[in-house]
Amino acid sequence: MSRRIESVVDAVGNTPLLRLRNVAPPGVEVYAKLEFANPGGSVKDRPALRMMRDALADGRLTKDKILIDSTSGNTGVAYSIFGAALGVRVHLVMPSNVSKARKDIAEAFGTEIIYSDPLEGSDGAIRLVREIVEREKERYFYPDQYANASNPLAHYHGTGREILEAVGDRITHFVAGLGTTGTMMGTTRRLKEHTRPIRCIAVEPDDALHGLEGLKHLPSSIVPPIFDAKVPDETRPCSTEAGWDMSDRLAREEGLHVGHSSGANVHVAVQVAEELAAQGKTGCVVAIVADRGDRYFAPLKWEKRYIW
Ligand SMILES: Cc1ncc(COP(=O)(O)O)c(C=O)c1O
Repeated sequence: MSRRIESVVDAVGNTPLLRLRNVAPPGVEVYAKLEFANPGGSVKDRPALRMMRDALADGRLTKDKILIDSTSGNTGVAYSIFGAALGVRVHLVMPSNVSKARKDIAEAFGTEIIYSDPLEGSDGAIRLVREIVEREKERYFYPDQYANASNPLAHYHGTGREILEAVGDRITHFVAGLGTTGTMMGTTRRLKEHTRPIRCIAVEPDDALHGLEGLKHLPSSIVPPIFDAKVPDETRPCSTEAGWDMSDRLAREEGLHVGHSSGANVHVAVQVAEELAAQGKTGCVVAIVADRGDRYFAPLKWEKRYIW
């Protein structure tokens, strides 16, 4: 349905659910929630916008402060877009080995990038942003997506509500990966309010050294304060290989070119669907597709079998 909007921020949310017919077994419905349809191209548009709006509303963020945060990329793109649209300056701290495309996108909106040690990964970026903010508290607004309640709330009021609107009469399972854990926490809390039980499954890389960008191996990471282990019904591991292979299959068999965390989510969703089919059961599994695959083009592709 065509609609007229006043600002790019109004284009966030209401993403479609796509039925995956070719990678899923017959008899069980598997849907991908296409978060790349947000204006910044990822699921992170939702929490970024909500954190900014909530902070502008209560005065933690003003037009003369600089928004600063650590990000592996997608949240940074989102801050950059909404910073430009809302008139807020943005500085981002990210490991220097994130893809050039991501740096270029953020800089296109006027964002300043500060690089952290690539060997320290996203935890190193978190430590550096905290040092910078500690030195000049008055100058910055630090949303801290790992500890900010607006992050899961964006998914509670958005992602979860939209899934129920689209398939609330049939959904049996929900699958999302763990990064900041905002998607899993907020969406699951909303789905748990539904009249019928919905089994919510978190996806985690199976190893500390993994190639599923956007996801965290919690046992070897700083656990995000917004994470509550009691929220998901279950956590399933996913290997880098399985996530990458499902990304390839989604492109070739469904015409859906997605990032590797999305491949991991759909891999687990199909695993669940196959288990249901093997027991002769029906079901409806919804998985989050967090972003598009073109963010991960060269030089990462060739490393698939060798580095991770
Ligand atoms: C590509 C991608 N997938 C998944 C996630 C995880 O989402 P969340 O931070 O809500 O746990 C992120 C978060 O940065 C991401 O960028």
